[in-house]
Amino acid sequence: MLRTLGIETSCDESAVAVLDGDGRVEVSLLSSQIEAHAPYGGVVPELASREHLRALPYLVDRALEPAGGSIEMVAVTAGPGLIGALLVGVRFAAAFAWGRGLPLVAVDHLEGHLVSALLSLGGEPARREPERVLALIASGGHSSWYLMDHGSRVRLGRTRDDAAGESFDKVAQVLGLGYPGGPVIDTLARRGNASAVPLPRPRLKDAPFDFSFSGLKSAAIRWIREHDVGVASEDDEPSSVVCDLAASFENAIVEQLLAPLPELAEIHRPHLVTASGGVAANSLLRERLMEWGSGHEVETLLPARALTTDNAVMIAHAGQLAHAAGRADDPRRLDARGREVWQPPGMRRACRIDEAVRES
Ligand code: KG4
Ligand code: ZN
Repeated sequence: MLRTLGIETSCDESAVAVLDGDGRVEVSLLSSQIEAHAPYGGVVPELASREHLRALPYLVDRALEPAGGSIEMVAVTAGPGLIGALLVGVRFAAAFAWGRGLPLVAVDHLEGHLVSALLSLGGEPARREPERVLALIASGGHSSWYLMDHGSRVRLGRTRDDAAGESFDKVAQVLGLGYPGGPVIDTLARRGNASAVPLPRPRLKDAPFDFSFSGLKSAAIRWIREHDVGVASEDDEPSSVVCDLAASFENAIVEQLLAPLPELAEIHRPHLVTASGGVAANSLLRERLMEWGSGHEVETLLPARALTTDNAVMIAHAGQLAHAAGRADDPRRLDARGREVWQPPGMRRACRIDEAVRES
């Protein structure tokens, strides 16, 4: 593999990383836009593009200081994501690669999340992908289970409505806890009683591996309104009732996400189970997944928390693997796409990654 500069600007994090030829992380930089979007309770697409434009040249300059001039290729997220935000990264990466005569690879953001579990921030090289990996992606825009096998990716189940992270964000917003909601619900849930608030766990009869989070989210919001709970300002100390709701909601989401696992494992006999995407930073999800793995003697691997949320390390590595498999994109023609960029190698047509993109 080649020493790679990775660039990620698909949503509200501007991220740049350099990986050596063995997939070892040399530099990983991130500029979060959370403060810029917080007053609006979610990501404002136009604001995201402008913030990327401000941050990216600075981050790349800083990444190249220790990494020196010996970058051998460039990998950039080209979709799915916010189209304006993606365009900033894609045009920057294309100009960088074209100006230096370097190979360029346009990476699918979801492929980045899929390979993130193979990477470490502790100076180790990237792990080789074993055969038959069952992989959960749970983030602000996606919630799906995949089978990764010999370089192919098949989606086995997906959300029919909201994504898990989106549901955390919405419930936190109604409680007055600010954005993003996942981390704060995670913190409050540790102090709450997970069986205090009864919440539904709907399953789809015709699609046992798919999820539905909208009924669960609406039930939680109804409960919050009926019981008139929440905080008046983000600095207020949340009551024990808020902590109970947080714990009950988190528990319901985690149970939903992991519900397909036993049957999927029975069918596919995985050598490894992984979870990635921002919601994979969740303490309860991590604990339950590790417990399941040790109970069933299946290796479970979770990325470091900093690699669960959007980052450029995973994009650089997905690009390295794709380039090693023969992929290269033309910097003069490369464009951003709001939806999927590639069907990852071997992805079957019927299982395309086609979830709607979070636009707000
Ligand atoms: O992967 P990511 O950074 O961006 C997308 O590709 O969407 O995921 C962001 C999402 C947000 O919805 C955020 O609330 C959620 O991940 N999240 C969490 C936690 N940390 C971030 N959800 C639950 N528990 C957490 N600790
Ligand atoms: Zn993501």
